[in-house]
Amino acid sequence: MKENLELILRNASEEINNAQSMQNLEDIKLKYLSRKGELNSIKKNLKDLSDEDKRIIGALANKVSNELEELITNKNEEIYKKELNIKLNQEKIDITLPSDYRPQGKVHPLTQTVNEIVEIFQGMGFSLVRPENSPEVETEYINFDMLNFPPDHPAKDMQDTFYTKVAPNVILRSQTSGAQIRQMLNQKPPVRVISPGRVYRCESVSARKNNLFHQIEGLLVDTNISFGDLKGILNEFVRIYFGSNRPTRFRASYFPFTEPSAEVDVQCIMCGGKGCRTCSGTGWLEVLGSGMVHANVLRNVGIDPEVYSGFAFGMGVERLTMLKYAINDIRLFFNNDIRFLKQF
Ligand code: DAH
Repeated sequence: MKENLELILRNASEEINNAQSMQNLEDIKLKYLSRKGELNSIKKNLKDLSDEDKRIIGALANKVSNELEELITNKNEEIYKKELNIKLNQEKIDITLPSDYRPQGKVHPLTQTVNEIVEIFQGMGFSLVRPENSPEVETEYINFDMLNFPPDHPAKDMQDTFYTKVAPNVILRSQTSGAQIRQMLNQKPPVRVISPGRVYRCESVSARKNNLFHQIEGLLVDTNISFGDLKGILNEFVRIYFGSNRPTRFRASYFPFTEPSAEVDVQCIMCGGKGCRTCSGTGWLEVLGSGMVHANVLRNVGIDPEVYSGFAFGMGVERLTMLKYAINDIRLFFNNDIRFLKQF
């Protein structure tokens, strides 16, 4: 048996040495080292030997198989390098060939606007509300009642708001203002947040209206906050978003959750205030709603209106994008026509 092993070692070594390809090596491995190979058939017969011989022959068999493994690994590497070199010498890369064309994706214009506006407000110390404080599927209670809407407010009508079958009074939110409530329920003042997101209204779709659109809500509550702070922040926002030297005006308005309330207009970017079709001849474009947070709203969330005051604002992302780029149909944002989208 000892002689057999030595013979196997000699023959196999020679074959390995002469191997020309990886396939050759595979065959040699099979012949000598596999389960049905020559070495294994010797190992299988060990059981017939005396204990003494078992130890000696067994050890020798292991040694031979280790040696052969090592020889094969080394030879394998040698052949691999040789084949690689031949390949490298034969194959040439033509670096003058044009590269593969891959269409480049882009950020959707509405997302670009959201990012831009969020950045402006972050620059003024606002942070994003946590997503859990701004759900799209919302209760009537948060979307309306806590925001001081009277129970018979027309916005609550089935015609205006999408009701779900999830549970009674669970709706698709009609405004991002509910985020104000959730944020204040979860955070004591000072609060200084913005909350972008989708809102839903049951409208007949037209060039100006879609069932789904986007808003950005803002809220600041602290001690000694006045209407002057609201004006300062919102003027600064308009100045950065629409460019400097564009006059604004604050027009008295009404929202249930603010008192006093104001709509902010910016001088028409199309006609510079002379009056045109875009501004319906007024010279002004309405860009957002705002106001001082109503004392009832603060009380609803357990904040003392004698100690704290604040302001809130809300703006439509589609509208702000349409005004900035002179887009005349809101549906363009949702049709996913690449010819439109790639312009931004
Ligand atoms: N939620 C209002 C809307 O959808 C917009 C708005 C107006 C938000 C005034 C505010 C605000 O926070 O103070 O029309």
